Amino acid sequence: MASYDVIIIGSGPGGYVGAIRCAQLGLKTAVVEGRETLGGTCLNIGCIPSKALLHSTELLHETEHNFEKMGLKVASPKVDWKQMQAYKDDVIGQNTKGVEFLFKKNKIDWLKGWGSIPEAGKVKVGDEVHEAKHIVVASGSEPSALPGVEVDEKIVVTSEGALALGKIPKTMVVIGAGVIGLELGSVYARLGTKVTVVEYMETITPGMDAEVQRQFQKILKKQGLEFILGAAVEGVETTKTKAKVSYKLKKDDSEASLDADIVLVSTGRKPYTDGLGLDALGVKVSDRGQIEVDGHYRTNIDGIYAIGDCIAGPMLAHKAEDEGMAVAEGIAGQHPHVNYDVIPGVIYTHPEVASVGKTEAELKEAGHAYRKGSFQFMGNGRARANFAADGFVKILADKETDRILGAHIIGPMAGDLIHEICVAMEFGAAAEDLARTCHAHPTYSEAVREAALAASGMGAIHA
Ligand code: NAI
Repeated sequence: MASYDVIIIGSGPGGYVGAIRCAQLGLKTAVVEGRETLGGTCLNIGCIPSKALLHSTELLHETEHNFEKMGLKVASPKVDWKQMQAYKDDVIGQNTKGVEFLFKKNKIDWLKGWGSIPEAGKVKVGDEVHEAKHIVVASGSEPSALPGVEVDEKIVVTSEGALALGKIPKTMVVIGAGVIGLELGSVYARLGTKVTVVEYMETITPGMDAEVQRQFQKILKKQGLEFILGAAVEGVETTKTKAKVSYKLKKDDSEASLDADIVLVSTGRKPYTDGLGLDALGVKVSDRGQIEVDGHYRTNIDGIYAIGDCIAGPMLAHKAEDEGMAVAEGIAGQHPHVNYDVIPGVIYTHPEVASVGKTEAELKEAGHAYRKGSFQFMGNGRARANFAADGFVKILADKETDRILGAHIIGPMAGDLIHEICVAMEFGAAAEDLARTCHAHPTYSEAVREAALAASGMGAIHA
């Protein structure tokens, strides 16, 4: 038995970042992780491996579609699926080992095994019970089940199975036009799979800016994805090699079905708290399964905290990381703050989609008067040179004060471009502040400045 200041359960982005911050602040820290490698869903079966497949298939697309135009002659590219998987696994390995290295560097103990909390102040891992003044639950999330659909991770898969298919399927049905469905759907579409996305709502990526949704769907259609919207999936039947997805169209209650080699179920995730013993401890959990915490990530039980996907808020690695740092700083007696109004969301398709702050629909509903400035990447020289001129930047600013309220980007490197707007928002900047900041030419970020020029009322130059 060992005694710690802090034991964190889970080594995903929330847990491992929190542990490093704890150690930096002089707290004796351990992390419980039952997986063979550190890094949680994000590094092992989520963000990182999916980015490897996105990157390789985007380059495939570039080779097939734009090389000739640029005067680059190459023999037609072939996909070596085994090698692509090996590349992905190598990327996972580099990242998970990186976390292991950071643990050693910061003298953080890895308690290998699945943890539970028999009582406040104690964490059980295997047969050993360790003591900790503070216990942080960072146990993450798992795919939520869809009634009538049984996942076998072979034919009916979640994102985990979809990242490691034995071969490239000829046909795939994606259930849910959310982040996972569109990222992985577009990977397989680029590999030649016929991908059909079935979505319950009338739009893809529900909740996102409406103009972005429309343009995004158009672009994905051009990439070969087909959409059946307003359709509730009611069940999936499988044979040894195929699946049949039945759905009901909401507009007229008519029923139909689709056959596919692979079905990807991407209809959301739910907190993963199995086996922790929260019930017995009396830790309050909402009816959605989220652990309830106060502004300092404290549960109702003294000395037990929770962060990341297992509490309320967007299920995003970077949100968990921020909470990991904040919980550590709070335990160390500091006064941290996470600004939930400025958490960017990014979809890593090609082009990327990124947003921060309010959408127009949210501002309208709140009766908040705003001005909007948009700029099409078509007017950006760098984007045209790089075959990346699809999309736009939109900035929303308060009508009276010009303070930036939100931004929505679809286009090249949107996931990176969004951050200058996030920083501006953190500093309470006006659109004019961004507009008057010199932006290097020729860069994609000039499109952000142009949108800011438009939003501030000064007027975009290249529109
Ligand atoms: P999601 O919540 O993004 O999308 C689920 C979609 O499924 C919704 O559009 C919903 O309307 C639809 N749906 C639900 N039930 C349905 C039914 N019976 N028939 C048809 N459609 C149905 O969930 P997703 O894509 O599974 O992602 C899970 C979580 O992981 C999200 O919270 C997401 O933020 C996170 N994530 C984030 C990534 C990123 O930041 N790039 C990448 C991957 C995941």
